[in-house]
Amino acid sequence: MTRRPFIAGNWKLNLPPEPAAEVARKLRHLLADRGNVDVAVFPTALSITAVLDCLQGTGIEVGVQEVHPAASGAFTGANSPAMARKIGCTRALVGHSERRQIFGETDRGVNQKVKACLAHGLLPVVCIGETLEQRQADQVDLVVHGQLATALDGLQPDQLSALTLAYEPVWAIGTGQTATPDQAQAVHASIRGWLRAHFPAYVAEEMRIQYGGSVKPANAAELLRCPDIDGALVGGASLDPDSFAGIITAVG
Ligand code: 13P
Repeated sequence: MTRRPFIAGNWKLNLPPEPAAEVARKLRHLLADRGNVDVAVFPTALSITAVLDCLQGTGIEVGVQEVHPAASGAFTGANSPAMARKIGCTRALVGHSERRQIFGETDRGVNQKVKACLAHGLLPVVCIGETLEQRQADQVDLVVHGQLATALDGLQPDQLSALTLAYEPVWAIGTGQTATPDQAQAVHASIRGWLRAHFPAYVAEEMRIQYGGSVKPANAAELLRCPDIDGALVGGASLDPDSFAGIITAVG
């Protein structure tokens, strides 16, 4: 089957509301004829409403970078999936390696957040990936399969159609050191194989698996040409509307 490409921009802690709106306005024009590709941006929470205003009616989705499992309550600093959905977000990043490494996110926490997103109609983009040490120790499959097993624990096959997976090798994030297409394809195939082994066949066939880690206009096409790479989760290059649009047109 052909899976529709999905390119997302993770703006991380960049672009306050007015600059974020400016990028969104440019994307609106640059991506007016983007063809057969799904596009989403994940601004910092403080810029989400400004970006939503600029992208209304474009089909470019806006998501939240972080959610807490609870819908509301005494959770200072947290974003709720229910509230994110209510203001117009359609997706949430869950389990990004920066959340895991800097903020102590666990696989079990990822699982709770995925379930909370699904309960409130927010589509999770679940991030997994190994560190350089784990790759050097030949533990890539062990690590990503373990992350998947806990992140997806307790989900029914039909729920998985709401998910996107993002394979982001930690050593490739923000380093300029992209995984080669062969390296990335090998892990994507292994992820799809794991899905095939644990869920009905259609789940693995339909699941979109994005690659993330130093994706740029110059390397997007060769990565996206790989049979198991269905999109990209772009950090640095998504802050510049021309380069983000360049990635999308390279695959559209
Ligand atoms: P870079 O594209 O800056 O390497 O970041 C990737 C990333 O972390 C996307 O979530």
